[in-house]
Amino acid sequence: MPGFEVFGEEEKKEIMDVLDTGVLFRYEFGEQRKDVYKVREFEEKFSSYCGSAFGQAVTSGTAALKVAMAAMGIGPGDEVITQGFTFVATWEAIFDVGAVPVFTEVDETLNMDPADLEKKITDKTKLIIPVHMLGAPARIEEIVAISEKHNIPVLEDTAQAPGAKLNGKALGSFGTCGTFSFDAVKTITTGEGGMIITEDEQLWRNMSEYHDHGHDHAVNPGGRGGEGRSFIGFNYRMMEIQGAIGLAQLAKLDGIVASHQKNKRALKDVAAKIPGVTFRTILDEDGDSASFFAFFLPTKDAAEKVNTILRDNNAGAIAFGENTWHFYPAWEHLLAGKTLAKSEWPFAVDGKRRVVYDPKALPQSAALMDRLLVYQVPVNLSAERLAEMVAALEEAAGY
Ligand SMILES: Cc1ncc(COP(=O)(O)O)c(C=O)c1O
Repeated sequence: MPGFEVFGEEEKKEIMDVLDTGVLFRYEFGEQRKDVYKVREFEEKFSSYCGSAFGQAVTSGTAALKVAMAAMGIGPGDEVITQGFTFVATWEAIFDVGAVPVFTEVDETLNMDPADLEKKITDKTKLIIPVHMLGAPARIEEIVAISEKHNIPVLEDTAQAPGAKLNGKALGSFGTCGTFSFDAVKTITTGEGGMIITEDEQLWRNMSEYHDHGHDHAVNPGGRGGEGRSFIGFNYRMMEIQGAIGLAQLAKLDGIVASHQKNKRALKDVAAKIPGVTFRTILDEDGDSASFFAFFLPTKDAAEKVNTILRDNNAGAIAFGENTWHFYPAWEHLLAGKTLAKSEWPFAVDGKRRVVYDPKALPQSAALMDRLLVYQVPVNLSAERLAEMVAALEEAAGY
């Protein structure tokens, strides 16, 4: 997920446009900013790249989830369904708006299993958040069809998949809205940052106002200080320098994806020689952002043996069964309901637990994680490093 690999002169030039004006704030400073509105331009260009009408930039991918949910009216008493293989941010944001996360299994797409989604929908379900993990699509068309049947909106957590498509349509643009992250390790980066895209103008207006303390952004003689407020908000505003970096990174996104695809192909060709290996289900190879390469061994034992050989040869893969940030049973603070709040919110209300999670609740996902090995695919893969990885995979083929 490496926008940082291509950081260069283009980003510096965009940043200098901002520094030349000295205006770091996305609003106001009319004369002084000389018509430089980098965050606004980034919103327009990013949403149009995704084929969506509106974009709302915010401070992070986690903030994007929170702002989108707040704008949709999600809150206490609501259940939000997401998958048990995701980054903790997805469910942190759900708790943060006061709702309760409900987790589904993933299937061999490594994303939400639509069959399990159907089982988890209740009268309290007010939102479904599929996550396009590791750069490639969830079964988003099936998920949207299910959501429409139940009249529940879909928010796509696309933090890990900017630039990815399904049948020519950008991920993030299938649901009511889609959120993105531009943190330090993402496919394009603004250091920290996030974006929400949507077709729904009213929803976008809610996001725009909520993320800026409720400012209604209506033109009025009093300027910003004279703006009205329709509801309470918060501050999740992106800075102009971040918007500037985002513009330069966005212009490189298609090139990043093309390099990922080439490098992933080279790794996949050699990994195919490992006996018993199978690959993650990719619903649209052409649309894969290819920021990750994921493969399965037939058993947990085989995956461990293969990864030991890969590690010994300086090419160890990520084993999500061991990684503690992305999979349900490893979230000990969630399972134990640990919170700084003395009232035990969000896990308890009035001293009573409102939600308890069972670490064994997702056996299908756990079985997949045990057999799964993943490489992060670099944009810049030197011939030497590729040769080293190829040699390691060839050695692993004899496990
Ligand atoms: C699936 C997913 N959602 C949300 C986020 C949160 O993004 P950020 O780090 O910008 O808050 C991440 C970040 O890793 C992520 O992977």
